[in-house]
Amino acid sequence: MAATTIPRPTADQRVERLNAASLRRPIEPDTALPWGTLGDGAVIPAELLSIEGLDVETTAEQRARLSREEVASMLAMGVRFEAVLTTGFARMIGEAPDLTDPRVVYMLHEVGEESKHSRAFIRLITELGPTTRNPLDRRSINRIMNGITRRITAHDTLLLVMTLAGEEIPDLLQKLAADHPDTDPMLAALNRYHRQEEARHLSFARSVLPESWSRAGAVERAAVKFVAPALITMLWQNFAHPGVYAAAGLPTWKTWNAVQKLPRRVALRHQATRPVLTALIDAGSIRRGRVPRPWRALCAVDRNGEPLAG
Ligand SMILES: [Fe+2]
Ligand SMILES: [Fe+2]
Repeated sequence: MAATTIPRPTADQRVERLNAASLRRPIEPDTALPWGTLGDGAVIPAELLSIEGLDVETTAEQRARLSREEVASMLAMGVRFEAVLTTGFARMIGEAPDLTDPRVVYMLHEVGEESKHSRAFIRLITELGPTTRNPLDRRSINRIMNGITRRITAHDTLLLVMTLAGEEIPDLLQKLAADHPDTDPMLAALNRYHRQEEARHLSFARSVLPESWSRAGAVERAAVKFVAPALITMLWQNFAHPGVYAAAGLPTWKTWNAVQKLPRRVALRHQATRPVLTALIDAGSIRRGRVPRPWRALCAVDRNGEPLAG
């Protein structure tokens, strides 16, 4: 008997389903989350701190302070990243040839959801009360970084790839925290709420990546293959900015540099970024057997995109 093949849904159908899912149960974080319940000690367990595995002695008090700083840093990065996404999507909506395209409607859903995420993140940052500052937050550096993010928002495919990275990385970190019994219940609730909506955003980016890739020019394609991994590495490294370590009385840059080399952190980076490469392979942007060197280094995979042993 011949096997029946079920036709894969088209990008249009997938996006229509995402639109329906976004409409089904809109969540307002300001009323849905248990605000005011955040404890004043550690918000994530020691084993989820970036310094886990580093040869330094810290007291419970230092770890508690560091936990609040690391989470606040990640949330702040989240807010800025969501703003980059909003900028890029707003441009794409403004330039869309057909406003009735379900993609336009979905981008409006996504921008609306990101706006709520960012408000919730900012409210939690306020409750966490971080005291350290990011040493990279200087006018000269910001000018360069803003230039880079504007270039990203101007290019659909690069924006989608960075969106996938900017959503996969926090998704993994938020999952680890939400699943751990020692994570503060308020933070765990925020993480679960965020991941639930981000799953749809990831699905959208994966659904439209192939068509976006087919429209991309040679320069943008080269940027995705050879430059995006460096941008993703920067993103990963700055989810906990160097200044956070001052909260635990540790040297900032020295600790930050050491943290980047910790086998556990490196393995987490591989785990968080491999789905981005998989999306590019599935979209036909990168071919198995020809995975570019920067992607191989970022994700620790071979030319076929298969994880390297060890
Ligand atoms: Fe978000
Ligand atoms: Fe998102």
